[in-house]
Amino acid sequence: MSAILPARSGAPVTVRPCLTYAHRGSSGMAPENTAAAFELAIADGADYVETDVQLSADGELVVIHDVTLARTTDARLLFADRAPWNVHDFTLAELKKLDIGGWYDDAFTGQQILTLDELLDLLGGRVGLNLELKAPAANPGLAGAVAARLRGRRDWIGPDGRPRQPLVVGSFDEQALRDFHARLPAVPVSLIAYDVPASGRLTDLAEWTFSVNPDIRRLCPEDVARVAEAGLALVPWTVDAPQSWRWALDTGCAGMITNYPDALRKLLHGRDPLPDAAGVVVQDVVHHRPDDEPPWAGEHVVLRNVSGQSVDVSGWYLRSQSSKRVVVGDGYVIAPGGLLRVWTGPGTDDAANCHNGHAAAVWNGTKGDSAGLHRVDGTIVDLHAYLV
Ligand code: G3P
Ligand code: CA
Repeated sequence: MSAILPARSGAPVTVRPCLTYAHRGSSGMAPENTAAAFELAIADGADYVETDVQLSADGELVVIHDVTLARTTDARLLFADRAPWNVHDFTLAELKKLDIGGWYDDAFTGQQILTLDELLDLLGGRVGLNLELKAPAANPGLAGAVAARLRGRRDWIGPDGRPRQPLVVGSFDEQALRDFHARLPAVPVSLIAYDVPASGRLTDLAEWTFSVNPDIRRLCPEDVARVAEAGLALVPWTVDAPQSWRWALDTGCAGMITNYPDALRKLLHGRDPLPDAAGVVVQDVVHHRPDDEPPWAGEHVVLRNVSGQSVDVSGWYLRSQSSKRVVVGDGYVIAPGGLLRVWTGPGTDDAANCHNGHAAAVWNGTKGDSAGLHRVDGTIVDLHAYLV
């Protein structure tokens, strides 16, 4: 079954059934891999929650993306002498002391790392699970531990080894995926990759995997055709803007992994994905270049007022795909047709330029990124993706 969707701009696109995977939960609107992000994904109507599992020092399965705790927890404060804060060096009791929401926004302070069991309890019966075996080299025994835990959950895996709820297990690591598949062969598995594998390897993969998850930034129509020819489902990551969604739909993707499942679902249902658009859009992201010195010197986002009236953007903010944030200061009003440049680094503010004073780059200058524009209250008003 297919339908014609009225595009917000440009030609209509042909829409086929396409599943929505909430990347680390609804991580465009809540801190990644938290109960808050997973609950939001369910409320958003996502078909699957995508998340990452690793092993603690005492062998507990825990839900977290990075192999270190530095970016998304307060481990540097609580365990100042434990650098580099590898997840695998901390016991579950220690991990449970960490706050994994405050780095994102004060409103989420108090979120705790979830165990795989807690995640299965939270999701059960409400949404599918796309579980990534994250960094198996840093987590020896991960595939076997996950298979054993799932097998012990009769609500998720029946006595015959078949899933009782929508479940896909993925990994960048083919050997870990094979290890998992050998233990639970009836659970669909998916190879995550940057580029679509060569055609010969795709044919081999089609013997035992269900889908391939490539980086949308590297995906071209020829690769899409090769995946289809191999008989595999194509579910790219991380697809975060209406223009990208329309392109992926038109190429026949079976699903999309996104930080913004609510907006994607709206588009899939023929609705405006950004109904709260406020007359100001992200016109451009001028990302840093490898030889910039300092790296963030030239980085800025160009906002344009495309409406016929002035818009007060004081306190609005932008988030990158990895949830880094730059903020518009107080007192900024963009006139009709006017521009505001929001800089990552320090500088002298004026009516057309606002600086954040960061000492590190925010925008991905080597592959591409997306920029979500939010009002003060968090409402999303525009999504812009770019390729490098
Ligand atoms: O499932 C694909 C995607 O999650 C892979 O990227 O780095 O977010 O785990 P990452
Ligand atoms: Ca992942």
